[in-house]
Amino acid sequence: MSKLYKIALLPGDGTGVEVIREGVKVLETVAKKNDFRIEFVKYDLGAARYLKTGEILPESMIEEFKKFDAMYLGAIGHPDVKPGILEKGILLKLRFELGQYINLRPVKLYPNVETPLKDKNPSDIDMVIVRENTEGLYTGAGGFLRKNTPYEVAIQESINTRFGVERCIRYAFEFVKQRAKDNKLTLCGKTNVLTYASDLWQRAFNDISKEYPQIKSNYVNVDAVCMWLVKNPEWFDVVVTDNLFGDIITDLAAMIQGGMGVAAGGNINPEGVSMFEPMGGSAPKYTGQNVINPIAAINAGAMMLDVLGEAKAAKDIDNAVIKALESGKIKSMSAGKMGISTTEVGDLIAFYI
Ligand code: IPM
Ligand code: MN
Repeated sequence: MSKLYKIALLPGDGTGVEVIREGVKVLETVAKKNDFRIEFVKYDLGAARYLKTGEILPESMIEEFKKFDAMYLGAIGHPDVKPGILEKGILLKLRFELGQYINLRPVKLYPNVETPLKDKNPSDIDMVIVRENTEGLYTGAGGFLRKNTPYEVAIQESINTRFGVERCIRYAFEFVKQRAKDNKLTLCGKTNVLTYASDLWQRAFNDISKEYPQIKSNYVNVDAVCMWLVKNPEWFDVVVTDNLFGDIITDLAAMIQGGMGVAAGGNINPEGVSMFEPMGGSAPKYTGQNVINPIAAINAGAMMLDVLGEAKAAKDIDNAVIKALESGKIKSMSAGKMGISTTEVGDLIAFYI
């Protein structure tokens, strides 16, 4: 009997549903070719469920997710839901409760994809950002004092534990080793101002780097990272950083690789269940038009297979994406400008599997 992977499928809202459909199509095709099976179990988490029932994320569901091999998420969000409710109540809660302490974001410019950077090509833009995913400014620590008075105080604390920082940095060093590209790890922080948080990161980084003498390690302040991402993206191989800096620099990095239509991310618990998603949101304005780019979701599916140990199948998807792009049939990475539909992009990539 061939191997079976059980995947929790969370299409979510808006165009999330449309891109996940194409992702599933490609995953099923590649599974057949590589002789393994995938069983998808669908969950209707998202704005639609919340608006109908008031329920955000039932506790029992988190326990159920732990039994899966991985989770595959579309996008969550709707203009009728106040910002913060679903982000905190679903996305961050899943990351925290499932211990998905790494947010892995590959940044790769594919052939025939337009980058806003002048004179840069695929050989210049090929890096991976390792973002810490359960600490920093994202824990929700803090609060208000005298809220809604002229004397109001708002405190939002950045939590950095030596344990949390070390496991993230160690993951990044191991990642550099197995990636075997430029053999280089950059720590991104702000040591010139955040003299406690970034200091802890830098000391942990320096200590762990001694265990990896074969890896070149360096430090760059986050503002300079933004500058170099635009000016000299070829300088980066793997970057490791905290939660908020990682959130910001990965959006910048997504743009230089062609935008949200191609950028994928993985919320990884190396010892547990991980969740993979396209970086873009639910794009209400494009919902139901079959014009959103499914490549990011398809790339997230490839990442999922890679983490599950199906490296060959993941590579098959990557190669199929490259062939589909080289065919010239997809005119742009932007929603509404692809020249062919969401479904047709999925079909084309499945065809090249
Ligand atoms: C991301 C998103 C999330 C984040 C939001 C939606 C909570 O921007 O995955 O990067 O800030 O982490
Ligand atoms: Mn983000």
